[in-house]
Amino acid sequence: MATLTSTGTWLSDEQKQALRQTAEAIVADGKGILAADESVGTMGKRLSQVNLENTDDNRRKFRQLLFTSDKEIGKYLGGCILFHETLYQKADDGTPFVKLLNDLGIIPGIKVDKGVVPLAGTQGESTTQGMDDLGKRCAQYYADGCRFAKWRCVLKIGEHQPSPLAILENANVLARYASTCQQNGIVPIVEPEVLMDGAHNLARCQAVTEKVLAATYKALSDHNVYLEGTLLKPNMCLPGQGCEEKSTAEQIGEATVTTFRRTLPAAVPGVTFLSGGQSEEEASINLNAINVYANKCAEKRPWKLSFSYGRALQYSTIMAWQGKDENIKAAQDVLLNRAKANWAASQAKFAASGAGAAQDSLFVANHQY
Ligand code: 13P
Repeated sequence: MATLTSTGTWLSDEQKQALRQTAEAIVADGKGILAADESVGTMGKRLSQVNLENTDDNRRKFRQLLFTSDKEIGKYLGGCILFHETLYQKADDGTPFVKLLNDLGIIPGIKVDKGVVPLAGTQGESTTQGMDDLGKRCAQYYADGCRFAKWRCVLKIGEHQPSPLAILENANVLARYASTCQQNGIVPIVEPEVLMDGAHNLARCQAVTEKVLAATYKALSDHNVYLEGTLLKPNMCLPGQGCEEKSTAEQIGEATVTTFRRTLPAAVPGVTFLSGGQSEEEASINLNAINVYANKCAEKRPWKLSFSYGRALQYSTIMAWQGKDENIKAAQDVLLNRAKANWAASQAKFAASGAGAAQDSLFVANHQY
């Protein structure tokens, strides 16, 4: 007869301690994550916004700009997610990017999924591939300096979506990914993203997110994942992009924190939200409102509520850069300001500015990463 095992019993105490310390360090003192893990194709779309060709050197130059920012940025960022290519790139003077990040006090992480693929038997839903050689890749990434990873699953809201199959399959693949990472000393960021696409309202997004997170944590338990050595990267609960019924930041804060109180175990050290198509300013305002509401809850909230933004940390930076060397310093200042704004929002201390490129919508239908 099979014996039940408790969460994380297959890891040694030393392995658990290392995973837990990494997860906690990433979200310590209001810090969040810079998600700079755009695939080659996605980075091409970003570069085309400033009329640059999608060459490996242009991708490298933009990432060099990010990673040579003022060292103050290490106060606001605990981690940075890289794409495979970027992990092995170097600055003009030959310094590996991993060293630049470590020197800033930012922990290097890596995107390990291999993208979203159709899930047969559903109406346009998906799962995420990349399991086959994952253990081997994690061991190599650890040796090359990465201490955490990201795997993105995508769920859609529609009349018949998400289906029970999509919820179950994505929860299970996230759990196997998480277990595989932990066996190799890597903290898994578990990312079940419920997309903003659609005309649904806030209540519907909340209902779907609750079901998705409940299924995800059931699967993580089934796979004996050590929760203290994980982070969650969810969507905020938001009305759909095409919804006419607008919600206030306070309502978004309440819906999002209520969802976690119902579904997210206290053992998980931190939540690092994706921005998902919100403008830079909205992503900061809503993160702040989430923390304001969490602070009001009668019993202390157990998790850090922070950020892991891609678009909402880099958009006005790339616009300020425009591919020109003379703009590098100005673009780095923009990045520093956005990182600082979100660090403040993670501590419920952000004051909105209401101006500039930070207002631009960053929504992309059916967004790929
Ligand atoms: P956005 O913040 O642009 O949604 O991306 C974060 C991310 O890493 C999605 O996987």
